[in-house]
Amino acid sequence: MLSRRSFSAALLASPVALRAQQTGLKARVKIDTERTIGDIDPKIYGNFLEHLGRCIDGGIFEEASPLSDKFGYRRDVFQAAKNLNVTQLRWPGGNFSSNYNWKDGIGPRDKRPPRLEMAWGSVESNRFGTHEFLEYAEMLGTEPYICTNLGTGTWSDAQQWVEYCNSSEDTAMTRLRKQNGRAQPWKVKYWGLGNEMDGPWQMGHRSAEDYGKFALEAAKLMKWTDPDIKLVAAGSSNFSNGIDWTGWNRTVLDQLKTHADYLSIHLYVGNRDNDFTEFMTSAVELDHRIDTVAGIIDAVLAGAPGNRKIYIAWDEWNVWYRARGSKEHGRRILEERYNLEDALVVASFLNSFVNHAHVVKMANMAQLVNVIAPIFTNDKGLFLQTIYYPLQLFAQNSRGKALELMVDSPKFKSKRYDDVPYLDTSAAYRDGTVVMNVVNRHKDQEIETEFEAQDKKFAGPVEVSVVNGPDIKSENNFDSTTVKTVTSSATADGNKLRIRFAPHSYTMLKAKLV
Ligand code: AHR
Repeated sequence: MLSRRSFSAALLASPVALRAQQTGLKARVKIDTERTIGDIDPKIYGNFLEHLGRCIDGGIFEEASPLSDKFGYRRDVFQAAKNLNVTQLRWPGGNFSSNYNWKDGIGPRDKRPPRLEMAWGSVESNRFGTHEFLEYAEMLGTEPYICTNLGTGTWSDAQQWVEYCNSSEDTAMTRLRKQNGRAQPWKVKYWGLGNEMDGPWQMGHRSAEDYGKFALEAAKLMKWTDPDIKLVAAGSSNFSNGIDWTGWNRTVLDQLKTHADYLSIHLYVGNRDNDFTEFMTSAVELDHRIDTVAGIIDAVLAGAPGNRKIYIAWDEWNVWYRARGSKEHGRRILEERYNLEDALVVASFLNSFVNHAHVVKMANMAQLVNVIAPIFTNDKGLFLQTIYYPLQLFAQNSRGKALELMVDSPKFKSKRYDDVPYLDTSAAYRDGTVVMNVVNRHKDQEIETEFEAQDKKFAGPVEVSVVNGPDIKSENNFDSTTVKTVTSSATADGNKLRIRFAPHSYTMLKAKLV
């Protein structure tokens, strides 16, 4: 079978094929269930909660609202999060975490101290803290992931937080936990060693060397408290011109290679120039960054004893460019409203995570509610933003093994990248069911595509779920849902399946293979 690379090269070499690319808009995809990339970690479908704007207060938690339960959790938001199949929740930040004293957020709510919050310019009431977060995660059936304060915090703060949450010993910390109503430890497995420590905007920002040394001491104490925890080191988030972002990762990993289990990387993209073609290549940038970071991890671990692994945690990612800027302070901040083209980029990011399933083992869309988020509330209800739908389809269906597809698609050239396939794809295979995710990045032409199963045949109807809308700028709001998932079915013929992918669409195909 031709590999993806050799097939593309052959196609490019032929002028006839090139002409066909311009006019025919046909594509071919070959599926081989034995050609696997790796196990898809369910944690790539995570989200993120930060004490920021209306994400927590006014998002998942609104004590005075008639829409909330007796603990203050918004029931409608909870249901929308449940339907999204959130596999992991990161908390409490973000930038917020770098000056957060977790001890402010425990004990009787009315006695908790309000504090000046400097990351986002507000006052933190502390009415939502460790117990509220971990109870919420438990109710939702999601894996909690706590990011410690390695900005203004100390090693002991981080260590004692692990002790408070996870220890079964009889200590001052566990007595406090019991006194606050929780007898059994929560056994929180995932812990972040600070947030975006490479950014000068971060409270307690350090150089890579200083951060690496500081984080290593915290990591030692945290793992000595609970050897079962997994630690996420703060990798790159600052890709500004002139910043040595690869150097940051290399230096930090050199310090932390014995203790970190993941390296956190963040990426936000946007369509500032209103250039759809360029915007559609956002995941190409993501692919390159993943490949580069994977190479750095390999280099750092070369010669390491045993089978030590460090994976990538893409623990903040999304489209975010409109609701930004220094004016963004106060309660209603970062309230990005999403359109169809944003949803397509989100689907492409998810394709990229699946296509790197061997190395990307965690990813958290930032965030969950109101703040650059798939769920948007007011005091009367909520609506689901365009980006909710691709994340939901992936989280519910793209599980099991990631497959490497052979894709022969017409291509385009953008300002940054040559030879970008119009069809952006990924595939997952589990228990005889294949799920294929296809984004047609063409703005106004459909692409007729023939799928060919190499080692199996299609059996039964093919489920077709499409996220599209009348226009690339279509948005949802409280009154109408213009962009959403529409399902239908298709019929395959033996090992062949033909589908026309509408312009500017994301399609998930789900079929049995025998
Ligand atoms: O998600 C919003 C902010 O983006 C986070 O607080 C920070 O980590 C990132 O810069």
